[in-house]
Amino acid sequence: MSKKRVEPEVSLFYPAPVVLVTCAREGEKPNIITIAWTGVACSEPPMVGVAIRPGRYSHDIVAASREFGVNFPSREDLEKVDFCGVASGKKVDKFERCGFTPFEGEATGVPLIKECPVNLECVVTHALDLGSHTYFLGKVVAAHVDEDLWQDGALKVWDAFPLVYLPPTAEYASLGKALGRYCLSKGRI
Ligand SMILES: Cc1cc2nc3c(=O)[nH]c(=O)nc-3n(C[C@H](O)[C@H](O)[C@H](O)COP(=O)(O)O)c2cc1C
Repeated sequence: MSKKRVEPEVSLFYPAPVVLVTCAREGEKPNIITIAWTGVACSEPPMVGVAIRPGRYSHDIVAASREFGVNFPSREDLEKVDFCGVASGKKVDKFERCGFTPFEGEATGVPLIKECPVNLECVVTHALDLGSHTYFLGKVVAAHVDEDLWQDGALKVWDAFPLVYLPPTAEYASLGKALGRYCLSKGRI
């Protein structure tokens, strides 16, 4: 099969995780923004990154408070995930409209979403102005998991019904089935 060079150049990165990033500023309602440009940046210390456009209501909140929450939604909350990605906190109280229950982080002041099975509290270490987006790198200072999803020191991730996003078609998807475990190739090839 021959290859086509795509012009103009584009990240074409797929699938993308889809998370709900939470943030708050003193004296204002807490906010939620749907984010697909995100990922793990470092294991030790545990760090994650989120890319936010400067025009988003959340952008200045994260820039000023220097902290954010990363909440992993389940597929049952897909419609709310989409809503938080099309409505702005400039006009809407997204916690209220979505019926999400906020709970306060233990290590930070960030609001987290109870209905999301996994929640991370992050403290911003770097804010990189990259162009269209600011890439906020955050150190994970606390992680919370629904009690029943934590077994033998690990997250029962399939029971959290992960959601992914497919940027090329702007579709959401759930995961199919596990195909094997890390190191499955050992000694075979
Ligand atoms: C699936 C999905 C992924 C998104 N990913 C990002 C992203 O990575 N960065 C970003 O700045 N906006 C992203 N957006 C757009 C924001 O979520 C959207 O503009 C939102 O309304 C901004 O909310 P705010 O103004 O309350 O901050 C995404 C939207 C959707 C639906």
